[in-house]
Amino acid sequence: VFPVSDKIKGPQGVIKVPYRILMGPGPSNAHPRILAAQTLPLLGHLHPPFLALMDEIKAGLQYAFQTESKYTLLISGTGHAGMELCLANMLEPGQKVIIGNNGIWGERCADMAKRYEANVIELKCPPGQSFTFEEVKKAVEEHKPALLFLCQGESSTGVQQSLAGMGELCHQNGALLLVDTVCSLGAVPFFGDAWGVDICYSGSQKALSASPGTTPFFMSQKAHDRLTSRKTGVHSYNYDLNLLGKYWGWYEGRFYHHTGIVSLWYGMREALAIVYETGLETMWKRHRELYDQLWEGLRDLGLEPFAENPADQLPSVNTIKVPEGIDWLGLNNYVMGKYNLEIAGGLGPSAGKVWRIGIMGFNATAANIALVIAAFKDGLQSQGFHGAKKTAS
Ligand code: GLV
Repeated sequence: VFPVSDKIKGPQGVIKVPYRILMGPGPSNAHPRILAAQTLPLLGHLHPPFLALMDEIKAGLQYAFQTESKYTLLISGTGHAGMELCLANMLEPGQKVIIGNNGIWGERCADMAKRYEANVIELKCPPGQSFTFEEVKKAVEEHKPALLFLCQGESSTGVQQSLAGMGELCHQNGALLLVDTVCSLGAVPFFGDAWGVDICYSGSQKALSASPGTTPFFMSQKAHDRLTSRKTGVHSYNYDLNLLGKYWGWYEGRFYHHTGIVSLWYGMREALAIVYETGLETMWKRHRELYDQLWEGLRDLGLEPFAENPADQLPSVNTIKVPEGIDWLGLNNYVMGKYNLEIAGGLGPSAGKVWRIGIMGFNATAANIALVIAAFKDGLQSQGFHGAKKTAS
């Protein structure tokens, strides 16, 4: 036994956190009802009332993803965990995967798939654009991959990928369709079953208005068949769907795989109840109307979208070109200091080129959009920008 070191200091006093209006690409502010749920007393991760909550979460996920698949669950971890889980379970070494790479999520997906020793074929298009159906069709028919990855909402470039016809295309060519909906689910239409999506993950802290740390997930019967017919075991214990499914009640009985993130799962139960009570169509409409409000205001200020084609623009994460001569970080810091408002910079291929504004869930209100526009006006004027061209201050 040694004396406890007095050189190593821990935190002291009650935690203090400033209030910020999070209008970047996420996390967005959590709904107070969700935060309140997270303060409820803990339950054991296998206690019957907790298992009943897990069943409610599964039903809520089915609604949010518009799937009847029983293979739904919450992954413990953020969207990156969701991406990794899908690849770990759907790919075996040497199998081909086509990865739609038009931003950071395609890049990361390719990185992860290589770690699982897949044969990675990257399909690229310029950042700020989405893939046409014809481009994807050509690649799928040529390579006949086991898996196709597309990101519905590429948050680094503010691009929305159309999924129309992609499921059918995959199935006709022996592939499964993997979709990232981290920053799109709840904000824009998504129809898991009708679009033939086989495996999909989302984000808790974006349009679903919950805390970061859990990842909505579902897979189709076809994806489940792929899982159970693997020749090699899943190389990850934490992300092995065979085991996770036993915890989430996909089969008879329950199995202790890991300790569910009890409080965050309460929060997600509440988030999914809010989604169901509000209705997906109402949510999609609200996000679309606020996107129109945002761009009307930004265009009046002389600002332009990075994703030039309106059909490519993602309502939930908006990318705004930084005008020449403007210090984008200076503006972000200015509005944070004055309005407690988060405006984010670019990421990956858009770093240094854009600002990013999220319109997501609880934060998707006309008042917040008006504040963002006013803050941009003020921040730009403080740098001498009064319209399409910078003038001396
Ligand atoms: C995270 O999702 C980001 O786009 O910054």
